[in-house]
Amino acid sequence: MKIILIGYMASGKSYLGQKLAKILDFEFLDLDDFIEKEEKATIKEIFLSKGEIYFRKIEHLYLKKAIATNSNTVISLGGGTPCYGNNMSLLLNKPNIKTVYLQVSIPNLVERVLNETAKRPIIAHLKTKEELTEFVGKHLFERIPFYSKAACTVNANKKENEVIESVLMQLF
Ligand code: S3P
Repeated sequence: MKIILIGYMASGKSYLGQKLAKILDFEFLDLDDFIEKEEKATIKEIFLSKGEIYFRKIEHLYLKKAIATNSNTVISLGGGTPCYGNNMSLLLNKPNIKTVYLQVSIPNLVERVLNETAKRPIIAHLKTKEELTEFVGKHLFERIPFYSKAACTVNANKKENEVIESVLMQLF
């Protein structure tokens, strides 16, 4: 079985994914980390040297690889993964794949990314809270149609334990 966590940047996919995997005794895979390890380059370097279109192509291929194994795994996707390359169709209506959207409010997302925009190529050019609020608001609005296709949606504005409990309640 695969539990796939999706959501905007900084919605807690990687952090909560690791915790969830530990609780369930599943393996854990972070798609960005998997890409970085296999490509021997950071996501930022890939964006800079090869561009976003190339990144989206390999992201699609690594997603396919990640879901092709037999193991029980919690997989955290990148914030954009569900929105490109028809990736959601690989994940929906599959008996062994459960998708979970971690929904976080715009102000909370902005607070979380405010001091770490540099490592995120999509928002690296944004500096102030106002710029980020405007960008994240519009960007999230474009992405919600993809995220909301997930089998479960969890309010991830809450405390870590509450979010994990909600994910488990919805899944099992
Ligand atoms: C992206 C999110 C990033 C990473 C890449 C693109 C996006 O992952 O995949 O920088 O388009 O939202 P995180 O959501 O883990 O930051």
